[in-house]
Amino acid sequence: MIRIPPFRFPQLASVLLLSLSALVIGGCKPDAGTAPAPPASEKPPAEAADRDEHSYAEPDKVVTEDLALDLALDFDARTIAGTATYTLQWKDPAATELVLDTRALTIDKVEGEAGGQWQSLQYALADADATLGSKLTIQAPDRNARIRVTYTTSPDASGLQWLTPEMTEGKKLPFMFSQSQQIHARSWVPLQDTPAIRYTYSAHVTSRPDVMVLMSADNDPAAQRDGDYTFKMPQKIPSYLMAIAAGDLVFKPISERSGIWAEPATIDRAVAEFADTEKMIATTEQLYGPYRWERYDLLILPPSFPYGGMENPRLSFITPTVIVGDKSLVSLVAHELAHSWSGNLVTFASAKHGWLNEGFTSYVENRIVESVYGKETSDMEFVIARNALKESIVSMPEPVQALAVKPGTVLDADDALSAVAYDKGAWFLQFLEQRFGREPFDAFLRGYFDHFAFQSITTEQFLAYAKEHLFDKYPGTVTDAEIQEWVYGPGIPASAPQVMSRNFGIVDSARLAWLGSAQLPPRQITDAWSTQEWLHFLDSLPATLTHEQMAQLDGAYHFTGTGNGEIAMRWYPLAVRSGYSEANAALAEFTARVGRRKLIMPIYDALVQTESGLALAKEIFAKARPGYHPITTGSVEKVIAEAKPAPAAEPAAPAVDEAAPATH
Ligand code: BES
Ligand code: ZN
Repeated sequence: MIRIPPFRFPQLASVLLLSLSALVIGGCKPDAGTAPAPPASEKPPAEAADRDEHSYAEPDKVVTEDLALDLALDFDARTIAGTATYTLQWKDPAATELVLDTRALTIDKVEGEAGGQWQSLQYALADADATLGSKLTIQAPDRNARIRVTYTTSPDASGLQWLTPEMTEGKKLPFMFSQSQQIHARSWVPLQDTPAIRYTYSAHVTSRPDVMVLMSADNDPAAQRDGDYTFKMPQKIPSYLMAIAAGDLVFKPISERSGIWAEPATIDRAVAEFADTEKMIATTEQLYGPYRWERYDLLILPPSFPYGGMENPRLSFITPTVIVGDKSLVSLVAHELAHSWSGNLVTFASAKHGWLNEGFTSYVENRIVESVYGKETSDMEFVIARNALKESIVSMPEPVQALAVKPGTVLDADDALSAVAYDKGAWFLQFLEQRFGREPFDAFLRGYFDHFAFQSITTEQFLAYAKEHLFDKYPGTVTDAEIQEWVYGPGIPASAPQVMSRNFGIVDSARLAWLGSAQLPPRQITDAWSTQEWLHFLDSLPATLTHEQMAQLDGAYHFTGTGNGEIAMRWYPLAVRSGYSEANAALAEFTARVGRRKLIMPIYDALVQTESGLALAKEIFAKARPGYHPITTGSVEKVIAEAKPAPAAEPAAPAVDEAAPATH
């Protein structure tokens, strides 16, 4: 049986259940299987349905066209302070208010430009909403073309992490980085924080002179480290792609237009691991048209980075946990690169349409992997993802099993994207590819990226485009009911194409033989297994094993203490469920050092099931907390607070300090 947390981000479950009950109370019934969508007249007015529930901004009244930042980083105070200047386009002739999103910001001053003069404007900062932050309403009776806000961030801004030198690889200089998606940009810049609005930006940033500052903009590989930096992002981007990082960062090229920024101690390992990045860019260009962002660089973050990767334009942010020495986890780079087309070029108008970003990107990622590493590797990755989706989707409330999520369904923007958006989304596109044929479908996608380039769109805009350029062009290839089921229905449609992996057939036989006979597969077989085969082996084990079985696997394959986070996130929960406490010390070390939620939340989820595990979880968290990112801290706090451990039936597992040393 595959044991994967029910959601890509496990704590989503309770939030969604809550939202589901709201839906039920509201009298809405989720779409059933193949039911056609309601006739247009029954649909809510487009405006209401398309409103971004995670922003106070009013895009139909006024939009930001350009943002100019002038900021100072203060590592001692852990703040960013300065000004944000908006060039505005007033849309509604009656509008005289600019509403911005903020969270935990101190607003010092608001001014508007009139006739070349800056004059004070009246404003009101509302009490904070727990999810959305504080609405900042600025009175602009003259509908100023430019407005300027002077502000300071809070030391615990949800979108920033400030690391002391001890928390870095080199231990000499402090580090700081942002993570703006989904709605954390507002914690370091006051802005219209909705992906429906796109703008260009520029920035002047000062910092202590020994620290290098980078942004999601035109970073110069030859930039001088002098504490004074300027940036320009000439393409229009949505706010969740605003990004900044500062630390002891050095650059090494991979190709003419691509390279790596990392701490000196990491740079060479990173360059070796990600050496295929240029190949990936060239492949994607061949498939979907030119890369439109000039440079493509990677920034390697400290292990506390809460995600695997973040597609900040021109500079993807990447977790160091994928640097494992054999390039086996570099599909993460293919994914973040793919967002340069699906997401950054054509963007979801709100998180409800998350699959337009993540589903398209997971599909494109797989195409890049196929082209650079071969079909067997891309098939294995599809199977791993789909097994996890199949396992998790059955326990999800029906409304969130749909690709396009109904308004009001998702409350917490950090958890808006589940395995459905990623893997059901990618599956839908593969279904279309197989029905229409690869060549016509590639041409269609290329046209789609071109047509909607630098725009933010909804699912319905995609469907209208697909109807004209694909469905109606090749009539009779798919039915309307099939499309409706994929996009608005729950579960996995019967029309889903099945992917088989030859290699996994061998893994399955080996696993079954071992479970039946306690005979491990011959060395010459397992020696040739890639990370993907090991992941599949672990994924398909029973939920718990005997102590003897755990010890046998660990003795042969040294899972405890593994340097591979994808293996760790599967092995440690299995160890916890199986009461294999020999893994505790290594598990605790891994969980405290790594902040990537996907890797450590399954471990916390497994730990909090028992009293002794909960005690260990609390012990790890107490130690790790100062080094965790605010997003990770929030997730762990929630799991611990909501824990309902089963009363101890077996003897308590030993705490970390008394645990046997790790085998490896
Ligand atoms: N854009 C996402 C990260 C994200 C999603 C941040 C939603 C905040 C809210 C990024 O492209 C992503 O999907 N990262 C994945 C890696 C990928 C290979 C599936 C991750 O972090 O695990
Ligand atoms: Zn993504």
